[in-house]
Amino acid sequence: MSDDAPDLKTAYALNTPQESKRLYAQWAGDYDQSFAAREDYHLHIHTARAFVAAGGQGPVLDVGAGTGLCGGVLAELGVGPIDATDISAEMLDQAMSKDIYRDAIEADLNLGIPVQRESYSGIVSSGTFTTGHVGPDALDALLRVARHGAQIALSINAKHYESAGFSAKLEHLAKTRIQSLTLKETRIYGDLAAGEHRDDLALIALFEKA
Ligand SMILES: C[S@@+](CC[C@H](N)C(=O)[O-])C[C@H]1O[C@@H](n2cnc3c(N)ncnc32)[C@H](O)[C@@H]1O
Repeated sequence: MSDDAPDLKTAYALNTPQESKRLYAQWAGDYDQSFAAREDYHLHIHTARAFVAAGGQGPVLDVGAGTGLCGGVLAELGVGPIDATDISAEMLDQAMSKDIYRDAIEADLNLGIPVQRESYSGIVSSGTFTTGHVGPDALDALLRVARHGAQIALSINAKHYESAGFSAKLEHLAKTRIQSLTLKETRIYGDLAAGEHRDDLALIALFEKA
């Protein structure tokens, strides 16, 4: 990983949860300005709106909540209560300072989420199922904490949907554990974005726990 100030390039080049912890600890304080505002990041808005349009309701878990951008949109749309989980204590501190979330749960998604099973009626995640971050096996941890019928809205980087195994995992889960799966392609950044990732796409996977 580079020693330079955190940016999109370093985020996409992450390889391990330890590298994520280190990068986001450095980035937490100015993520909203140096990344979200500067890159015209919109994915959290699309993800929250898709969740609400599909009838999603609280209590909701925001997975890889970061500084709370997706939770902020959900709260504006009247959804709650919302809990945040993330591997980075520093990102969660930023999220909690915004008075959006009921609770913060520091956890590596790859190792599970330390809350009781079937705690949530909804799960959202924006920007976390992407290159160098979290892969498809973490979907099992999400389903464990979701109630039957829970609405789930996850953004998945489109470039890696097939190659990282999300397609195969969701196809497998659709046989028994999830239902009503739809995929909606959306731009990650808005019209003000510049740089090589300005036209990057994500798929918003919407489904219910069976
Ligand atoms: C690009 S940020 C997205 C944050 C927020 N959801 C948003 O849309 O702005 C990715 C987040 O995933 C978290 N993350 C990365 N790897 C993780 C892991 N293994 N378990 C839990 N969270 C992880 C990072 O700490 C970071 O806050």
